[in-house]
Amino acid sequence: MKAIRCHAYGAPSSLTLEELPDLAPRAGEVVIETEAAGLGYVDALLIAGRYQVKTPLPFVPGSEVAGRVVALGEGVPEKMMGTRVMALSPRGALAEKLALPAMGCIPVPANMSAEAAAGFIVSYCTALYGFADCGHLREGETVLVLGAAGGVGMAAIDVAKAMGAKVIAAASTDEKRKAALAAGADFALDYSDPEWRKQLEPITGRRDVDLVYDPVGGDFSEAAFRSLAPGGRHLVVGFAAGDIPRIPLNLPLLKRASIVGVDWGGHIRANPASNIPLMQKLTEWVTAGKIHPEPAASFPLAEAPAVLQRLLDRESIGKPVIRFRA
Ligand SMILES: NC(=O)c1ccc[n+]([C@@H]2O[C@H](COP(=O)([O-])OP(=O)(O)OC[C@H]3O[C@@H](n4cnc5c(N)ncnc54)[C@H](OP(=O)(O)O)[C@@H]3O)[C@@H](O)[C@H]2O)c1
Repeated sequence: MKAIRCHAYGAPSSLTLEELPDLAPRAGEVVIETEAAGLGYVDALLIAGRYQVKTPLPFVPGSEVAGRVVALGEGVPEKMMGTRVMALSPRGALAEKLALPAMGCIPVPANMSAEAAAGFIVSYCTALYGFADCGHLREGETVLVLGAAGGVGMAAIDVAKAMGAKVIAAASTDEKRKAALAAGADFALDYSDPEWRKQLEPITGRRDVDLVYDPVGGDFSEAAFRSLAPGGRHLVVGFAAGDIPRIPLNLPLLKRASIVGVDWGGHIRANPASNIPLMQKLTEWVTAGKIHPEPAASFPLAEAPAVLQRLLDRESIGKPVIRFRA
């Protein structure tokens, strides 16, 4: 089978497309034939060796997939054979076949494509966990999504709209703002303008926003925090801009607003059962057409290095997905 592997931390261009031996499932595992794999900014950082944790070399990049079950390990129910599943794949995703714990494989709703399913779990679970469990988002509240045209940002728009919020998307280019509006945002603003908070006034009036969803960090965070209404919540999701902001603690006091960490990965590692209701709700919403996780584009396996480079270069729009079929 074909797989992409990282043999040395560095640029995505150093990844190699290789032929690896087929896999046999161990007890409790299934082997899936991969149909699609989702990528994110974190995957590009892991390849560069710039993430908080380093994956031992060599490794197959990626961590989420969708595919069809083609082999069952001991103890796995027969009825799983042939089913379409989506799963987290901590040992890598950019391979034509993967052995995964059967327990972690979730059936793909009938109306969901493999491409949508492969880019779904991380960004949508983070959004629902962030808004519902951490941010206590209520219907009618106003949400400002930073980095709104990224994979995590687009899912946040979709989930916040499904929860009845008014959504303002902040993005750095016209093309990205158009994509965020197409993903369901009610308004879009250009936060590359140093005076970007002035663009909020005609949208919100004098009320400011109730929640900030922040996967970007850097200089954007403090300005966004200053835009919160009393009782507002700033959801800290990630630091794609590179710099970790240091917000003076008088601001939460004066604003009567909270800074809340949204570490979905840490949350489910500490309490694996907690993801079951999140996934149940999200798949119900997919079936009901309440959320729309279809990615804007998908790419063949050989283009994975270029896709990862676009994430590092701030040029990617939406959730990038690699497809394994023609
Ligand atoms: N907390 C969690 O559980 C969790 C889960 C998944 C991901 N994350 C984090 O979420 C963040 C976003 O991930 P993603 O996959 O959505 O990435 P992405 O698709 O690349 O989106 C990130 C966005 O950040 C903005 N950005 C600003 N400065 C940037 C820079 N110097 N380089 C790259 N992007 C920059 C870009 O939008 P503009 O050009 O419009 O500014 C870009 O669209 C990452 O930091 C990731 O670690 C957190």
